[in-house]
Amino acid sequence: MTVSPAMEPTTASSPAVAPAASPEPAAREASARRFLMCRPEHFAVTYAINPWMDPDAGADRDRAVAQWEALRDAYLALGHRVELIEPVEGLPDMVFAANGALVVGGRVYGARFRHPERAAEGPAYAEWFRRNGFADVLEPEHVNEGEGDFLVLDDLILAGTGFRTDVAAHQEAQEFLGRPVVTLRLVDPRFYHLDTALFPLGGRNVAYYPGAFSPGSRAVLERLFPDALIADEADAVVLGLNAVCDGRHVVVNAEARGLIAQLRGRGYEPVPVDLSELRKAGGGPKCCTLEIRM
Ligand code: ARG
Repeated sequence: MTVSPAMEPTTASSPAVAPAASPEPAAREASARRFLMCRPEHFAVTYAINPWMDPDAGADRDRAVAQWEALRDAYLALGHRVELIEPVEGLPDMVFAANGALVVGGRVYGARFRHPERAAEGPAYAEWFRRNGFADVLEPEHVNEGEGDFLVLDDLILAGTGFRTDVAAHQEAQEFLGRPVVTLRLVDPRFYHLDTALFPLGGRNVAYYPGAFSPGSRAVLERLFPDALIADEADAVVLGLNAVCDGRHVVVNAEARGLIAQLRGRGYEPVPVDLSELRKAGGGPKCCTLEIRM
């Protein structure tokens, strides 16, 4: 695709070449990531804390493990590093590592879960970080579900509230991490964590489903990200926005066809995965993935 340098002054002195940086779909660059994951050895749907969960529907653990392994293998094939935390019996949602903490600049802001069913996961993840050489691990005072509700961009952190994470935790995270935190209000119970409705693209851009957000938060998103990729409800209800972008590749639920086409159009390389079994608990690729940022 040729990009016309519309913003360039067409004076006689300007060279007849395209501007060095055209926003898209220029070559996207991947950067290697460090992820923490938890094999779903004890995965099950035994309680319902979001509208996706139906304890009577029956989730197939072996299938969940196979899908999770394919996700891990996809990360490894892309050159990312994957570390593992030991799954704990009796914590069927522990596979959703994103909820375990928020790690920025090597500082670990711990999780404090909304529901008692998941409460023990917070200390389990904090312990993993302590044992793996992280000295700055904050035990939070306020309810927050880690990267489920905190998404990190280059210069700011987007933070969800409305269902799980308290606004007070947004302030606590900002103070601890020294990064600006922008509060966004979620209003649709199907999209109970921010990472079910929005994901960061490379640079300073995001993809999101507007219907998940309050009118005020939608206005904030439009102002912050005028060039955002807007997903529709069909992509959102297969948890297409629960995706992981490394700057170039986007690991994304295969059913999110419209979103995948839009990503291709913008020069990203979609890596479709099938996590249909984990979706029975309300989770997708991003939920299974905690990024460790040093
Ligand atoms: N069943 C889990 C819960 O409701 C799913 C968590 C999904 N994780 C996420 N990062 N969105 O808490």
